Amino acid sequence: MAEKYSRATLTRNFLKTITRIKKPDEMLTEAKAEGLEKTLGVWDLIILGVGAIIGSGIFAIVGIAAAGSADGSGLGAGPALVISMVVAAIACIFSALCYSEFATMIPVSGGAYIYTFATLGEFAAWMVGWVLMLEYAIGFIAVACAWSNHFVQFLSGFSSILPAWLANPPVWLVNDPFSAAKIVAENPDAFVPTLFGLPICINLPAIIMVLLSTAILVKGTKDSAKMTAIMVVVKMAVIALFVIAGAFYVKPDNWVPFAPHGAAGIFAGAFIIFFAYIGFDAIATAAEECKNPQKDLPIGIIGSLIITTVVYVLVALILTGLQDTSGAVPAAFLKAPMAYCMKLINLNWAAGLISIGSLAGLTSVLLVMEMAATRILYAMSRDHFISQRFQKLHPKFKTPHVLTWTVGLLSVIGILTLNLDVAAELCNYGTFTSFIVVCVAVLILRKTDPNRERPFKVPFSPVVPSLGIICCGGLMIYKSMQPSSSALLFPVWLGVGAMIYLLYGFVKNRKNENKVHIEKVEQRKLELKM
Ligand code: ALA
Repeated sequence: MAEKYSRATLTRNFLKTITRIKKPDEMLTEAKAEGLEKTLGVWDLIILGVGAIIGSGIFAIVGIAAAGSADGSGLGAGPALVISMVVAAIACIFSALCYSEFATMIPVSGGAYIYTFATLGEFAAWMVGWVLMLEYAIGFIAVACAWSNHFVQFLSGFSSILPAWLANPPVWLVNDPFSAAKIVAENPDAFVPTLFGLPICINLPAIIMVLLSTAILVKGTKDSAKMTAIMVVVKMAVIALFVIAGAFYVKPDNWVPFAPHGAAGIFAGAFIIFFAYIGFDAIATAAEECKNPQKDLPIGIIGSLIITTVVYVLVALILTGLQDTSGAVPAAFLKAPMAYCMKLINLNWAAGLISIGSLAGLTSVLLVMEMAATRILYAMSRDHFISQRFQKLHPKFKTPHVLTWTVGLLSVIGILTLNLDVAAELCNYGTFTSFIVVCVAVLILRKTDPNRERPFKVPFSPVVPSLGIICCGGLMIYKSMQPSSSALLFPVWLGVGAMIYLLYGFVKNRKNENKVHIEKVEQRKLELKM
């Protein structure tokens, strides 16, 4: 009986411990005491948002959303791509409003991870932090490799002036092992060295980009914001060029039929193009570095999402007005749709500039994704889930340099080993989950802490957060029903996360609690002696 009792007590204590919440006031006090430098203003935030959002989604993936596949057998939105763009934006705006409520209420590093800690407790917070690594760290690796693909394509445009090894670099030096295997299957002449039968691939451009991005982030948030600003100006300028130049060549006939695959095509397009909107939530992870978070964060989050939606709708109109997307399309359109359309209207110089713009776009996405990953891990280390060593700030630049380099070096290992198609899909899963959790967290905190000051409030709650949960949940279920490796790997990722928590995070946290308790007792003893 006694054993039974103690087991029941243990279970109860265990459940109580893993659902322990961290009070927002505690988070704010900690952040004040040991926080990062506050350097970001409203424009920095908008630039950070646009920098994180506009990337491979609009420069590459948009072609698949419009046409489905090269032979016309896939489910694409056709000219109704503009509706898909708006549907995906609506799915994001519900979550963006929820992010804004939290980010202004608890403006500390960590985004969805800390919002979960404040509402659902320790275990759920750890799991969200773990899932956010899919969005930001695995997404960072996927975008670095996409950058490498664009770079190789850009170099091939200069084949008449560059040496052959540079205009057409060896497959194993610019690909991950899985992409290289696909290339070898299509072209047996392609050479890839092997070791014990395993292909050796070193995606050099991607690795260099990751190391560069890490060095820039270590140098400082303000500096990386400056760098991001330059990239944002370049990519926005080439998109403006595309829209203005393309507008003169649009053939309205291409907009008919408007939705060749009906509603199914529009939703399939919306699901694919959702990737193009990922990134606005990264602004919330930098909340602690904002000068005026209460006012600036909602403007940054919602403003960057609105700017992006307008840009995307314009691009979708011009793109589908220049190229007929109701049936089969050339493979080159799917790879780089905007550059292809400029070639179609004989503006080759504009196509070249668009390639430069897409590299700039991907560079800024890289910088913000890596920054978001480090800020979440920084918050997790503050909560004793991972080593305290990661709390160390650079003596001169005041950035978490040990953590940033750790993320950079782990990403290099990811580039050398991961299957990128799967990585990009896992990134979507991570994003959907974090969006859903933030919507749920808003609903919970409205109930458990209704009187807390909310500088920004989600309008029409609980309708808006519930719509966010339904939209993101629906898209996630839709994806899970299609057979794919990522649909199997996502639960595996969750299982590994839960194991790490039980074997490491949970134990480490309890040790820390004991240490704090002993320190308090010693302090009390000293006070009594005095
Ligand atoms: N939204 C980001 C992109 O399109 C992830 O690259």
